[in-house]
Amino acid sequence: MGRGLARHLSKKNEVIIGSREPAKAREVAKDIAGATGEDYATACGLAEAALFAIPYSNIGVAAGLAKELSGKLAISLINPLRLQDGIFHYAPTKGSAAEELAGLLTESRVATAFNHVSHLFLKEERVVPMDILIAADSREIYREAAKLVEGVENMRPLYVGPLSQAGVVEAITPLVLNLAKLNGTGSLTTRFVTRKG
Ligand SMILES: NC(=O)c1ccc[n+]([C@@H]2O[C@H](COP(=O)([O-])OP(=O)(O)OC[C@H]3O[C@@H](n4cnc5c(N)ncnc54)[C@H](OP(=O)(O)O)[C@@H]3O)[C@@H](O)[C@H]2O)c1
Repeated sequence: MGRGLARHLSKKNEVIIGSREPAKAREVAKDIAGATGEDYATACGLAEAALFAIPYSNIGVAAGLAKELSGKLAISLINPLRLQDGIFHYAPTKGSAAEELAGLLTESRVATAFNHVSHLFLKEERVVPMDILIAADSREIYREAAKLVEGVENMRPLYVGPLSQAGVVEAITPLVLNLAKLNGTGSLTTRFVTRKG
């Protein structure tokens, strides 16, 4: 997921790939114009904003990056999921992953984004039109995250309200995964329709 987003975001931003293994990050970065690779702490120290594309089970790694990310935007893509009897369930330990991340990065500005964009959509050069739901505790944080989203053609940011709504956003992921699986639709993501007036 991180690799796919890095490719799209690199069109309008300078991207640093973070990894536990900097050599691996540099290898991934070779395929992305202008990108570089670093260990997590260096990447977070250099960056203006960090996207957390790591498994929920490893969310605790954020605690060690709190200093590097102090005063910066931190975006959570993290979905707490459990697969049981062939069905995906929303399974946070408490609250939501984004709120948990905010609890670890107390000096950062935390938002959700990209939670239900399957990495498969990102393989396309131009993604299909989709809505990216952003929960954040202020309009200012939302605008910062929305600016990144708007840098990807066909992605429309929508504000869902404060981080207390992050669970609603994250829970859409098991919904779209189950819908795709049970109905054989291929990958699904969010796109809201509008009735004018
Ligand atoms: N896959 C999707 O389509 C998709 C879509 C939307 C949201 N998401 C969410 O995005 C997150 C990443 O999903 P993914 O499918 O990309 O997962 P993934 O490939 O399993 O893991 C992503 C990266 O997390 C890092 N990582 C793994 N274990 C770690 C640990 N113990 N500590 C620190 N970093 C660790 C690894 O990077 P290094 O080995 O380089 O350190 C790994 O390449 C998940 O929370 C998922 O819910 C996924």
